[in-house]
Amino acid sequence: MFELLAEKKVMRDPIHEYIHIQYKVIWDSIDSPEFQRLRRIHQLGPTFQVYHTAEHSRFSHSLGVYEIVRRMVEEVEGVKEHLSEFERVAVMLAGLLHDLGHGPFSHAFELIQNHHHEYYTGQILLGESKIHQILADADVNLPKAIADIIAHRHPNKLLTQMISGQLDADRMDYLLRDAYFTGTSYGQFDLERILRTLRVADDKLVVKESGIHTVEDYIMARYHMYWQVYYHPVSRSFEAVLTSFFRRMKDLYHNNPISLAGYDMFTPFLRDDIVSIEDYVAMDEPAFMYGMSMCKKHPDKILSDLARRLLTRDLFGYLDIDNEKTIVEMKKKVEACGFDSEYYLTVDRAKQQPYQPYRGKESSLIWVMLKDGRIRELSDVSVIVQAIVKGEDKSDRKMFFPKTCIEVSNEQ
Ligand code: NI
Repeated sequence: MFELLAEKKVMRDPIHEYIHIQYKVIWDSIDSPEFQRLRRIHQLGPTFQVYHTAEHSRFSHSLGVYEIVRRMVEEVEGVKEHLSEFERVAVMLAGLLHDLGHGPFSHAFELIQNHHHEYYTGQILLGESKIHQILADADVNLPKAIADIIAHRHPNKLLTQMISGQLDADRMDYLLRDAYFTGTSYGQFDLERILRTLRVADDKLVVKESGIHTVEDYIMARYHMYWQVYYHPVSRSFEAVLTSFFRRMKDLYHNNPISLAGYDMFTPFLRDDIVSIEDYVAMDEPAFMYGMSMCKKHPDKILSDLARRLLTRDLFGYLDIDNEKTIVEMKKKVEACGFDSEYYLTVDRAKQQPYQPYRGKESSLIWVMLKDGRIRELSDVSVIVQAIVKGEDKSDRKMFFPKTCIEVSNEQ
């Protein structure tokens, strides 16, 4: 039995109106320093450079995911009956803590490291941390159960499906939240209706046939959010400069570690060995930005220029890549106007499929329960989803370089 709070706590939230907290271990987890750190990590990384109100944090997203899981556990027919109290608390905590290992500017920061954020989430949950202590004090088996749910290792697939399937609490919260905070309308869909049409059948979460249209709407929301918000070329340009900035710092450090003496927040990430939990948790966006403003005065011209660009939003311009020849030509142009193309020309490809019926594991697919009780995979019964799945994958390959090298008319 888990201890309940003397009085149920509520927190206001623009997406869910209220976040409801009843268990002491959940309240204590929110108060842990590792979870509080998420206040200092933007949910959308550099997207606030494009959508100026996208200032929301991983902290509020994580609370939102928790709230959706709590509602699934308490309101969806069959879920409560299907799970023990231990599993219910573990899956709510998995929702709350699934993004614990995110670093500053999420995606770009991952590119320059040996491990993804999922790895650090596991390390923080299972290693020496305050949050580990809080969870283990409530039940010694809790930290491992939560880490297993997040890492898709838990034997009860229903739990994994709630946190990371293709119709999970994580995606449902971030689409609604990111749409709200960017001020776009693409990400809207009817969460209430989805929750009302969810059921449990064959030990998995399924949507009743009457909920199909709402789920189609959710898939379309995802599609539009990717191309309009997540893959916006200006965000990708910020990431391009950030990646070059880090690459330069790593190269300088490898040639001569002394050249970065005093830049202590960065040094654990420049070495080739594993970053400790303590160093990792200390790295948040304020620490990162402070380090960057120090780098603006660094004697190395490339490092200081890249830091200045990031701080003043003097980002790279971009062009679509038609074929490999365009990259070679651009490389010459970048060199001709005095830049080292190693750091001043980057290439990236954005690719996304809003629903993947074939590549996903069974527990990550979306299942529909027909009126006669049969269960089918979503693209088998939805004409719209089938059309999206059969269409070609949309992909977008761009190169990024200083605008002064060539006339580009990128709107920013
Ligand atoms: Ni998330």
